Amino acid sequence: MTRTQVVIVGAGPSGLLLSQLLDREGIATIVLERQAQRYVEARIRAGLLEQGTVDLLIEAGVGERLQRECLVHDGFEMAFEGRVHRIDLKGLAGKQVTIYGQTEIQKDLGDARLAAGSDLRYEASNVAIHDFGGARPRVTFIHQGRPQELECDFVAGCDGYHGVCRASVPADAVRTYERVYPFGWLGIIANVRPVAHELVYANHERGFALCSMRSSGRVRYYVQCPLEDKVEDWSDDRFWDELARRLPAEHATRIQTGPSVEKSIAPLRSFVAEPMRFGRLLLAGDAAHIVPPTGAKGLNLAVSDVFYLHEALRDFYRERAERPLEEYSGRCLRRIWKAERFSWWMTQQLHRFPGDAFAARMQETELQYLFESVAAQTSLAENYVGLPLEYSHDSRRTHAAA
Ligand code: FAD
Ligand code: DHB
Repeated sequence: MTRTQVVIVGAGPSGLLLSQLLDREGIATIVLERQAQRYVEARIRAGLLEQGTVDLLIEAGVGERLQRECLVHDGFEMAFEGRVHRIDLKGLAGKQVTIYGQTEIQKDLGDARLAAGSDLRYEASNVAIHDFGGARPRVTFIHQGRPQELECDFVAGCDGYHGVCRASVPADAVRTYERVYPFGWLGIIANVRPVAHELVYANHERGFALCSMRSSGRVRYYVQCPLEDKVEDWSDDRFWDELARRLPAEHATRIQTGPSVEKSIAPLRSFVAEPMRFGRLLLAGDAAHIVPPTGAKGLNLAVSDVFYLHEALRDFYRERAERPLEEYSGRCLRRIWKAERFSWWMTQQLHRFPGDAFAARMQETELQYLFESVAAQTSLAENYVGLPLEYSHDSRRTHAAA
């Protein structure tokens, strides 16, 4: 049986970033991923990074291409009742946001792990975790046709919402909170010029729309759609037509159309599992929580969990300190619940929820108030750019010195 210090289940952004950060602390990891590397690197997901996320990726040694190729935005636009309002993130919250695709982060992390000669096993099936209540957890799996077993000090559950780690915890040890929204997002990627320099979020009577981008020549656009819709129901022409109807005229006239190079439908969900630590099993990222994408928080939260987790494991191996491990779940969850609140609020304000007239008037009033009140816009901006991370005593010293 092979021994390592930390087995990481999942090679999404959480798993790879954790492996990268622990490696820099001299902590050995083995990463097990169910899918093939090509599949993981091709998944189109998030695109908007908080400054804290960018800083951590740079600190982890994977920020070089990001800094060269990213777009930095000082604000974004919100369209409602035919008018466009700009939220001045830099002026109101003193911070900017960064556009850089999750696919690119995944590639940068994958390249860095490969260059470091790390033990990363793709297409590992039947992953099962054992004995995480004690000091010697084990992980069994099948790789390249052979059953295998690893012994370790810790298991990091970075295996996403549908992963095996959270599902292995006894039902009475975990409490979950969930809200499923009655619509989905149809998203496309196309190699055309964006409608605007910054992101545009639109609340229209036909439903929500979002114009995001990946670069000055590649757009990521979304429209709210019924949950029952299938990708085949949406030809490119139907998508472009629907998007134009939902945007204010000044943006609709600037839409450059072209063939979609990706098209998918994602459901919207809020979900939190508490706690995030079960003995020697620690969950991070989507394995423990999901936000609806409206606030662009999913990837950013995964990164902040990993920051806290690598600190707790670093302190354990440096000083045999148990306290940061005990505090891991609480530190994560304080930030997670605030991001859950913000993502729920953004979703509530920007989508159409048919059949509730009172809720519709509340939404209208909330948005009117937002556009009239600098205080309300400041609150939105503060959350959108990302709430600060709690630093442990040790890392506060490091950051203060930097
Ligand atoms: P994941 O990226 O889900 O990675 C988990 C990994 O674990 C996967 O590679 C999976 O294959 C692997 N795995 C699962 N089960 C097992 C197993 N049993 N054994 C081994 N490996 C396993 N966020 C935003 O901020 N903005 C967006 O626009 C946005 N769009 C999204 C669209 C979609 C369709 C989805 C699903 C998510 C989106 N998100 C978005 C959320 C964001 O992408 C996630 O928060 C982020 O990927 C979380 O990273 P993670 O590493 O924790 O989980
Ligand atoms: C993107 C997705 C979001 O949900 C969001 O709020 C901003 C940007 C994106 O995919 O680019």
